[in-house]
Amino acid sequence: MSNDVITQKELTHAKKVLSSITIFSQPNNVIEINRELRKSDRDFGKINSLVSKDVALSAKVIKLVNTSFFDFKGPVDSTQQAINLVIKSNLFKSVIATSLRDALEKEELGKYRAMYEEFWSHSELVSAMSGVIARRVGVVGVTTIDQALMAGLFHDCGVPIMVNQFSDYIEMINTALNGETSAIAVENDRFDTNHCDVGYVAAQSWALPEPVCQTIRVHHDADIKKIEDPSARRLSGIVMMAEHVTLAYGSVGYNSMETEEHWVASHMEVMKELDLNLSDLQDLKEEAFELLA
Ligand SMILES: [Fe+2]
Ligand SMILES: [Fe+2]
Repeated sequence: MSNDVITQKELTHAKKVLSSITIFSQPNNVIEINRELRKSDRDFGKINSLVSKDVALSAKVIKLVNTSFFDFKGPVDSTQQAINLVIKSNLFKSVIATSLRDALEKEELGKYRAMYEEFWSHSELVSAMSGVIARRVGVVGVTTIDQALMAGLFHDCGVPIMVNQFSDYIEMINTALNGETSAIAVENDRFDTNHCDVGYVAAQSWALPEPVCQTIRVHHDADIKKIEDPSARRLSGIVMMAEHVTLAYGSVGYNSMETEEHWVASHMEVMKELDLNLSDLQDLKEEAFELLA
């Protein structure tokens, strides 16, 4: 397919592909992208960074790139790479128009606006912090720094999907978003599934890289030594650490009763995998403070 011309048939097919992504975009973000797209001297770097912090739009562009609309060989393993391929196409304008309409018009967003705002900011912060930690400790095997950003962005993508599916899931979102290890048992008990498994299935259907999918599945299970794939094990450790560090700065669901020593003791395998000690953790928190300020 040419990136400039899209047929009606391709557009219909694209809409079908994208209809499986039942997560709303941040309206202000989409409005800003739309504004930039309409300029004659549009800044694609700016558009890329706006898309890459939006879970729903990132999922859409990755899914599009992976489903043969674009002449791209092999699975895409970086959100940046997917965005660069998609944002210059007419198809992207259609994605933005639909996302904007959905974000502004859907009644459910109004009802769940506070939840979505927490979800958007939590995902963005964990993504940025995952990048910081990945640069510091290094990635392993087939993973890249970009995949750490991606895993951080998508780790809780099952949360809005659960909200769409179960009307009383909203009561659960604090424990779901804060990485508490007990959250999964509670969700399984109540809903017969949980946001990690649901997010894993969604991520696989969007064709995210396998280590990213595995990280989504295990991000509430601190016993990461049982993850066989070294790439996924490292990535999971990075995202768990990133979540802990960002939550310390007043993001959603922070458990202020939990001491640093307690977290470290219950996440020994994460500390071991990343080869970090308590004082390294304090350093990371200082870096996070600068990042999140
Ligand atoms: Fe979670
Ligand atoms: Fe989270």
